[in-house]
Amino acid sequence: MQGIQEIDGDVRSTSKPKLEEVRRFLKDERPLPGQVFRDEDIFRDEGKRIFSREWVSVTCAQNVSKPGDVFPVRVAGYSLLVVRDKKNEVRVFYNMCTHRGAALVTEPCRARGGLLSCPYHGWVFSLDGRLSSAPFLTQSKENPRASEEELKGRGLVPVRHVVWRDIVFVDLSGCAEPFEKRIQPLDEHLKPWTSEELYPLSTNEFTAEANWKLAAENFVDAYHLPVVHSQICPTFEGALAQESLVLSDRIAGMLMPEGYGSDPKAEESLLPVFSGLAEEQKRRVEAFFIFPNTLLLVEADYQQVIVLRPQGASLLHETFASYLVTEEVASERYQELRDETDRASLEINHQDIALLQELQKSRSMPAADHTQLAVEWDQTVAAFQKTWARVFLGAEDVSEVE
Ligand SMILES: [Fe+2]
Repeated sequence: MQGIQEIDGDVRSTSKPKLEEVRRFLKDERPLPGQVFRDEDIFRDEGKRIFSREWVSVTCAQNVSKPGDVFPVRVAGYSLLVVRDKKNEVRVFYNMCTHRGAALVTEPCRARGGLLSCPYHGWVFSLDGRLSSAPFLTQSKENPRASEEELKGRGLVPVRHVVWRDIVFVDLSGCAEPFEKRIQPLDEHLKPWTSEELYPLSTNEFTAEANWKLAAENFVDAYHLPVVHSQICPTFEGALAQESLVLSDRIAGMLMPEGYGSDPKAEESLLPVFSGLAEEQKRRVEAFFIFPNTLLLVEADYQQVIVLRPQGASLLHETFASYLVTEEVASERYQELRDETDRASLEINHQDIALLQELQKSRSMPAADHTQLAVEWDQTVAAFQKTWARVFLGAEDVSEVE
């Protein structure tokens, strides 16, 4: 019960929701209180309690596809650099010169000569993080270049990271449980979707004036598909077969056994598919959240990743990335299908972002707390909300938020 006491202590001095209140909302099958979607104090606390403690995704490796590529990200107040060094390794550092702390880069770029120069005093770092030069460090005219010894120990501050299915995850605390352990249930579940290499199709950056949690909930919500995305899911009957799949205390998904439910013949892929899939898996669409901020969708011939990077209670940056299956798909004969896949997936995301921005507006009204989940449809949405409540409120005992 220690967790609850600590939280209650916090709550008395601020406007944060109490565990009791959140529990009551969840028990009554209502969405989380509107306050948790709009309050900047809660957003800052999410940075401390969730984003700096959990394995969080920051972008996709296809955003740094070539050695020398540099991709700066901000996630819940933390400024990081994702780079690919000359040995083709993805590395993550704090976006901060080790002299006076200036940001090294503000936009995605190529590091000329594999080097990053600080815009403040001109210290130069290589993409493996080492300080390569610092002009006139010892103020000696005869010695404009500092010695190896003088440069040692002043390299960029590295961040513990892992690349999984092309998604770059970081652990800012440096002491989260091993990523392999955290991801194991999903990794195991997705084995049939790993029989071939992923082919990076495209990556796009989106901005939404919405809370990151709305985007996570929306991603695992099958109920909205026939209304918002009728171009892929024309009827409610098609979505009816959806099931919720809880894989761990941080990972859950929505599974559509018959795909989006249109004619199965028409759904047979013309693109290369994962050869490890059983017959019934070939028609499936599965969409997961990996708490807190990673969204992953798989089909027989496709993977989609959305990395949510909260910038404030009402502002979200997203990396939206698509993948096909095997290098073979890069050939000329697939060009039309590649373009169409890209266009269709971006169209869906545009539709969702327009919707999320409207949802955010309604979360700012007191009436937001007069909403109710549709229990049969919203099981995965409810799983996300319970996970948020458990982790944010420090109620590590699952039964405390059930
Ligand atoms: Fe959607």
